[in-house]
Amino acid sequence: MQPPAAGTLRILHLSDTHLTGDGALHQGSVDTTAALEDVLARVDGVPGVGLVVVSGDVSEDGSPESYAALLERVGGWAERHGAALVTVPGNHDLREGFRQVLANGHVLGEDGRPLMHTMEYHPPTVPVWGQSLVAGRRVVTVDTSVPGAGYGAISEASLDRLRAALAGDHAPHGTIVVLHHPPMPAPTALHAALELRDQDALADVLRGSDVRVVLAGHYHHHFAGSFAGVPVLVAPGVANDTDVTGPYSEESAHVDAGALVVDVAEDGSVWSTPVRVPRPDADPLAFAFDAETVTRIIDAATGR
Ligand SMILES: [Fe+2]
Repeated sequence: MQPPAAGTLRILHLSDTHLTGDGALHQGSVDTTAALEDVLARVDGVPGVGLVVVSGDVSEDGSPESYAALLERVGGWAERHGAALVTVPGNHDLREGFRQVLANGHVLGEDGRPLMHTMEYHPPTVPVWGQSLVAGRRVVTVDTSVPGAGYGAISEASLDRLRAALAGDHAPHGTIVVLHHPPMPAPTALHAALELRDQDALADVLRGSDVRVVLAGHYHHHFAGSFAGVPVLVAPGVANDTDVTGPYSEESAHVDAGALVVDVAEDGSVWSTPVRVPRPDADPLAFAFDAETVTRIIDAATGR
């Protein structure tokens, strides 16, 4: 892949890892730890990643062990690549286990350096909240999880904090918002029942702000759109891929995994490169040209 242009922040956007503390298979079929390892191996050669984001449903069971599994693998990847690491809870996460291992979700700062956190106790009723500065961008995580529920909501307090953050000190290159439940129509009836509620309130806060992109997950499939004038990117799931072509009333998913490589330029331009990581090992190759062959083809095509 081409390196990011000067001044561009490159983000590796992962979502819905659904890790289990005891290695149990997700929905009885997918080894999500292996799926995550496959994704991380596939993107190992992507140059210039400055921030890794995991936009929720980090864990399937909420156990501290499952969060430790993420920290070890994704944290290790980010450290090796000199990237920050930011994550946020989704509907499958449990705030207690999340906080125990990942604190407020802003785990690594610029260049992959660990961020310090005060050991403050919050009951699980209090949403996780965090913000940090990465390459001149304010990165804000908004916890849309609702304890005991699958749908998403943003508490008054979280909305106030987001509003205050956006009104606060000027971030040279704008803001990146990370949350789990996307402010976007759902592809199936099941996901529609689990949508983010009261999206108008979020729209009011985002409209006209310096937010360059909203990074989300939850739908286990890649979607791109805009909301209140702000681009929204939904990362494919690491755990599986929702079948979006089936009947609306039904729900099925394929064993498949992927990620997004999101580039955010200094002027706020955003573009995304989806990376598909087929699983299990079957990855049939249609063709493979070496560099020499490519040069020959280019020469032939351009009349050089
Ligand atoms: Fe999920």
